[in-house]
Amino acid sequence: MDILNPSAVIGTNAWGGKLYGMAIRGNYVPDDRIREAMAVAADRDISIYDLARDYGFGKAQKMIGEFGTEDILLSAKYTPFTHYKEGCVRRSLMKDLDDFKRDHVDVYWLHLPTDIEDHLLEIIELYKEGKIKQIGVSNFNLDECKRAKEVMDAHGIALYGVQNHYSILCRDWEQSGLLDWCHENGILFWGWAVLEEGLLVDPRLRKRSLLKFAFNRKVRKLTDLYRVMIKVAKRHEIKVPQVAIAYCVSKGVVPMVGCRKPEQVEDLAQAAGVKLTDNEIRRIEEAAGRSKVRILGADIFRPFVLKEKKESRWKNRGSRAEQSSKTVQ
Ligand SMILES: NC(=O)c1ccc[n+]([C@@H]2O[C@H](COP(=O)([O-])OP(=O)(O)OC[C@H]3O[C@@H](n4cnc5c(N)ncnc54)[C@H](OP(=O)(O)O)[C@@H]3O)[C@@H](O)[C@H]2O)c1
Repeated sequence: MDILNPSAVIGTNAWGGKLYGMAIRGNYVPDDRIREAMAVAADRDISIYDLARDYGFGKAQKMIGEFGTEDILLSAKYTPFTHYKEGCVRRSLMKDLDDFKRDHVDVYWLHLPTDIEDHLLEIIELYKEGKIKQIGVSNFNLDECKRAKEVMDAHGIALYGVQNHYSILCRDWEQSGLLDWCHENGILFWGWAVLEEGLLVDPRLRKRSLLKFAFNRKVRKLTDLYRVMIKVAKRHEIKVPQVAIAYCVSKGVVPMVGCRKPEQVEDLAQAAGVKLTDNEIRRIEEAAGRSKVRILGADIFRPFVLKEKKESRWKNRGSRAEQSSKTVQ
């Protein structure tokens, strides 16, 4: 398990609350099963967990801290719902570390492109203190990623990765050139919701839930895509959702999947090693295109991104950057 070369990442946003599990996912998974799932991840060497303060209505981070974080890699985030205020990232990270019972996180993401430079400068300070091992950005477009890289480069720190929505049905970042830019610059691209929250699983096996109800119209339009996925799955002796995971891997995207059960972790580990052929990829993309199913991908969090402030620490970066590189080792 190497944070610089992850084969897959386990998402935790559905860990925790009974009500959340029942209402949104259609099933509640008790803590013991999640612990079993973590044991499978350790066996399969994919113990990288993606977290954020609000996952599982705030329960996911506390849960993983209780389960034990010594032998796993942790990905956490700062979500700037408001403009930058000095110390905001530090305060949030310290609460995270408290939850994790750890003195560092392995990757830390700026979750939204609000006040990019100011937030990144504070993240860089925390990196220099050893509290953060790698820095990434999430839900950024190509221009915003380039700005982030510029800030990081100015401090001699490599931008680790971009964490954006990516799936068979959501390829906006590929079309905008962001994915190629990441590959060209040695920056990892972690794709979130590669199963489209359960839309890209076998429709015959899907459980009753609010999400399933919301998906119904889309499911009907996706019959042709499911047929292609079932054929590809048979050829590789894998399952339908594993085709969605293998598709991402074949595109050079690190697949992040919301797993709460041992068998899901097993599926993820296995699919992360499957490479689809160019012909299979083409047939999947053609079927996805014909479905005309539109997923809010690139822009889903745009309403939460705040307009740039006129005054920012970055505007005075000469003095601030010099100051920070002199004072922090
Ligand atoms: N950076 C960001 O802004 C951002 C945003 C959203 C998500 N994320 C991250 O990305 C992760 C993944 O997204 P997600 O959890 O929303 O959605 P997802 O991974 O696309 O889908 C999760 C759904 O797929 C089902 N599933 C998982 N493995 C399966 C398998 N092997 N076979 C059949 N069904 C399977 C789960 O079923 P069950 O319900 O039965 O468990 C659940 O309903 C999150 O957990 C989070 O860490 C990041």
